[in-house]
Amino acid sequence: MEGKKIVVVGAGPVGSLAALYASQRGAEVEVYELRDDLRNEETTPLNFTKSINLALSERGINALRSAGNPELLQAILLQTIPMYGRMIHTRTSTGALSKQSQLYDVHGRFQRSVDRGGLNRVLLDHLDSLPNVKLFFQHKMTGADFRKKKAWFEIKDPTDSVYDRPREVEVDFDLLIGADGAHSSTRYHMMKYARTDYHQEYIDCLWSEFTMPPNESGDFAISPNHLHIWPAGSFMFIALPNLDKSFVCTFFGPVELFQRLENGSDDDFISTFDEYFPGVTTYIQPEDLVSQFKRNPHLPLINIKCSPHHYGDSVVIVGDAANAMVPFYGQGMNAGLESVRVLFSKLDENSDIAEALAGYTTERTTDAHTIAELALGNYTEMRSSVTSPLYKWRKYIEETLDKYFPSLEWATQYSRVSFSNMRYSDVVQYSKRQKRILTTFFLSLAAIAVAAPSVALWFYLYRYNRQRRFKLSWSPKSLTAFLNST
Ligand SMILES: Cc1cc2nc3c(=O)[nH]c(=O)nc-3n(C[C@H](O)[C@H](O)[C@H](O)COP(=O)(O)OP(=O)(O)OC[C@H]3O[C@@H](n4cnc5c(N)ncnc54)[C@H](O)[C@@H]3O)c2cc1C
Ligand SMILES: *[C@@H]1O[C@H](CO)[C@@H](O)[C@H](O)[C@H]1NC(C)=O
Ligand SMILES: *[C@@H]1O[C@H](CO)[C@@H](O)[C@H](O)[C@H]1NC(C)=O
Ligand SMILES: *[C@@H]1O[C@H](CO)[C@@H](O)[C@H](O)[C@H]1NC(C)=O
Repeated sequence: MEGKKIVVVGAGPVGSLAALYASQRGAEVEVYELRDDLRNEETTPLNFTKSINLALSERGINALRSAGNPELLQAILLQTIPMYGRMIHTRTSTGALSKQSQLYDVHGRFQRSVDRGGLNRVLLDHLDSLPNVKLFFQHKMTGADFRKKKAWFEIKDPTDSVYDRPREVEVDFDLLIGADGAHSSTRYHMMKYARTDYHQEYIDCLWSEFTMPPNESGDFAISPNHLHIWPAGSFMFIALPNLDKSFVCTFFGPVELFQRLENGSDDDFISTFDEYFPGVTTYIQPEDLVSQFKRNPHLPLINIKCSPHHYGDSVVIVGDAANAMVPFYGQGMNAGLESVRVLFSKLDENSDIAEALAGYTTERTTDAHTIAELALGNYTEMRSSVTSPLYKWRKYIEETLDKYFPSLEWATQYSRVSFSNMRYSDVVQYSKRQKRILTTFFLSLAAIAVAAPSVALWFYLYRYNRQRRFKLSWSPKSLTAFLNST
């Protein structure tokens, strides 16, 4: 990488981390970002077009840690709030509010609530201080030639234009890293060069964000150390804590419900919330709730899978650009940050960039597709299985084994995804194996439960028949004789 010119498109969390990794390897790095600098106070707030806070877990932290700058990691972790479990909010049959805490992990490991902007800011500040990194805001990638290794960017600054049309710049590079999000322009242009399989899917769910202010004494309105969930079948409301003692809440629901609420009256909206998300209207004033719903955008959720993630030795995509996923496993950003770590480990191992990128595609597409599917599966699962007795049983047994016999390495899928750095595809293999073993175990138990009375009956019949000096037989006749005699 020494002396090579690396262009990063997109200065979100993933692009910023990629720029940091590249700069540490001695590359000349240029970062091009469509939006204005988010650290600029005058920047128009995005008003929740992006989720404001996220669950940061081990994979994301490990990728930040592997950037080899402990102070930077510390600065980010200082801005996080530990969440040790979920807090499930429901109403009892008598109508009283009920809260139930479920710990994430038997070993006390936790998720961290982090402000996306805060994390991004720390990374950008650090990039600013590096002599071999240049940041260009308000630069939109509009085209690229990945054979000639050139890309074109439109300058969005209205004061810098010729004849009212945005000015365009041409940029050369040795390697371009596309971290430009779900609607990636890099991916779009890469697909003209690489034979790319591509699949995108919108699910029947929209989301909208709300702020829950601190309570009257200026404290967190609900427990800060939980991820709060109001489950309601096909829709739900969640809340994650912020350092300023507010919460960012997200309402997820089917398109039809959103349309009904958008077109219905304010009272209808409030009563729907009261019915399904008990307590929320006491933490967020009803009028405020309604006006936030009207003001903040209602956004779709997309799942994207594509392969390969690179072309030749000139371009590679990471983060949402390569694998956007629905947020139901809380892994999108974590997976994106992990992709950066994996990418650079391949580049470190192999000085031939094309081979390193091919190695990255091979390893990472498998894992990216796995977590995208888990997230999608969890969208359905969350609505049903979390409450099913069999699910709870399996979770209970796996957690007990993990707690008391850690050497068996019998962790739940959730804890392997959230608290380890095991490859996503390996996590699934382990879980499948565990599921097979547990299923065999349950089936044997069931077989014993069914067999035991039959054996007892057989034994009884046998003795009965012997007493009566009948030949032992299972014929309906002997059974009728037996039944008649009892
Ligand atoms: C409701 C919701 C909840 C979520 N919760 C979690 C969670 O709890 N945990 C978790 O890990 N993940 C979560 N995610 C996923 C997470 O938000 C994303 O995975 C993460 O932000 C991806 O980061 P990124 O840097 O790849 O992309 P982005 O954050 O989308 O950044 C891409 C950047 O590229 C820029 N860009 C776009 N086009 C161009 C262009 N043509 N030229 C130049 N620049 C461009 C954009 O302006 C943007 O700054 C959630 C997502 C949603 C929607
Ligand atoms: C965000 O909200 C503020 C105040 O409600 C408003 O002035 C601003 O125009 C909004 N920004 C966007 C991008 O919608
Ligand atoms: C605010 O919340 C805290 C706990 O988070 C609680 O102790 C306090 O009584 C609450 N204040 C009001 C006015 O509800
Ligand atoms: C689905 O995701 C939720 C939220 O991240 C998590 O609590 C739950 O354990 C996940 N379910 C499964 C089956 O992994």
